[in-house]
Amino acid sequence: MRLMMRLSENAISRARVDLCKLILETPIEQISRCGNPKILAALTTDMDIMSAGYRALINALLNTVVVLSSIAYLFAIYVPFGVMLLSFLLVGVVIQNRATRWPIARAAQARRTLDSLHESLSRLVRGARELQLNRQRATFYLETAVSRYAGKTAQLVAECMGQFALVTSLGELMFFSALLLLLLPVFSPHATATVTASAIIVMLFVSSSIGELLHLLPDMGRATASLSHVLAMFDIMQQAPRVTQQKPSPKPHFESIELRELIHEYTTNGTHAFKVGPVNFTLQPSEIVFIVGGNGSGKTTLMMLLLGLYEPKDGCILLNRKNIEAHELDRYRSYFSAVFSDYELFDTIFDCSLETAARATVLLEKLRLGDKTSITEGRFSSMALSSGQRKRLALVSAYLEDRPVYVFDEWAADQDPQFRHMFYSELLPELRRAGKAVVAITHDSQYFHYADRVLQMCNGRLSAWSPTSTMF
Ligand SMILES: Nc1ncnc2c1ncn2[C@@H]1O[C@H](COP(=O)(O)OP(=O)(O)OP(=O)(O)O)[C@@H](O)[C@H]1O
Ligand SMILES: [Mg+2]
Repeated sequence: MRLMMRLSENAISRARVDLCKLILETPIEQISRCGNPKILAALTTDMDIMSAGYRALINALLNTVVVLSSIAYLFAIYVPFGVMLLSFLLVGVVIQNRATRWPIARAAQARRTLDSLHESLSRLVRGARELQLNRQRATFYLETAVSRYAGKTAQLVAECMGQFALVTSLGELMFFSALLLLLLPVFSPHATATVTASAIIVMLFVSSSIGELLHLLPDMGRATASLSHVLAMFDIMQQAPRVTQQKPSPKPHFESIELRELIHEYTTNGTHAFKVGPVNFTLQPSEIVFIVGGNGSGKTTLMMLLLGLYEPKDGCILLNRKNIEAHELDRYRSYFSAVFSDYELFDTIFDCSLETAARATVLLEKLRLGDKTSITEGRFSSMALSSGQRKRLALVSAYLEDRPVYVFDEWAADQDPQFRHMFYSELLPELRRAGKAVVAITHDSQYFHYADRVLQMCNGRLSAWSPTSTMF
């Protein structure tokens, strides 16, 4: 039993890691299409249900071996008994197979509702502050989303389990009736008393295995629904070409990056929603470029294209005047360090030389984070910071990566005037002096003179910004 548990848990943990690996190789847009709650449901609930199903399957295989050995034994002691038991079981399997379609369909329906439940739960957790501020909205949300989907899921799971219980009882009834029938003397006129007695013992033995097999059906049925969900997710993710992982060059050589006639198109429900490009843009070492433009003009999309995180519909990217093919994107990405506007901060630091760590410690002090956190054993000692402080730590984290190109999406937006000034007047020029290229999306027009070039994004088109142009 312990071995069985270990086998099933190992298989599930492998499946979980494989799905995570696949996520890391799937284009970001494809991941967005799947939706975070669905992916989380697949990684957590589905895997737990599949784990129970896997244990049930191993159990079922062991019981099947017992049943088959018993049938073989019956064949050995009295062939008609063996033939009859085998025929009963085959008929039983066919009937059960048909009968279980009904609860399995319910399990699939329950699984689909679970996605909606997960979505409403994750919104509830993320939006707890907003909901606590407005009790009316909280009550409405609880009733219309959480309670509704929780109730529907519970009802469907209960119906599914009820139907499985009915099918199991029916199966047991059929099997015991068949056993009794089998032992009627009319079916075994030539069997001796010893043979009949042995057959009774074997059949009692078989009946416990059959009973157990029938009781495993609900777990296996629900696991089937979860498995098809996970497979569908694998399918969606594999529809887009995967990003081949490559070893990043230890000292990336950077002369230029060029976006040539690059186009990206968003589609919503199959229809064109927004187009960025064609974009032509060149970046060189020690260059600071600001991208400005109104909300929704396409700045972040351009940044994703530059980072090689969005697949362009047309055009190409050239690194050091060499075209970057799809299979080279992973290596291309290793030229960049970025702080997104909705960034995620990880506490672990990689490949950090002593010299860089020492410089980062100076930077921590400069950004007034020295008394809040430090670099200890390859990680930041604390991340209990305010939102502005966390953003500064994200900058230190990017700095530690020591890559040739730095990209910032409205980094200074939530900084106080002192740090905003420090960012533009000290940190960016320092990066330039170190030979780094910087692309910063910004709305801070008072700092435009710190850039070598200011480009403007307007309705998806990139052009040079001039002080007389209307920006927003
Ligand atoms: N997933 C998406 N599907 C469809 N359209 C999208 C999607 N994401 C963004 N868009 C559209 O693309 C346009 C550009 O979005 P983008 O995020 O690049 O703008 P932005 O210039 O960074 O805006 P902001 O200043 O508000 O950050 C927007 O008008 C938006 O409606
Ligand atoms: Mg943006």
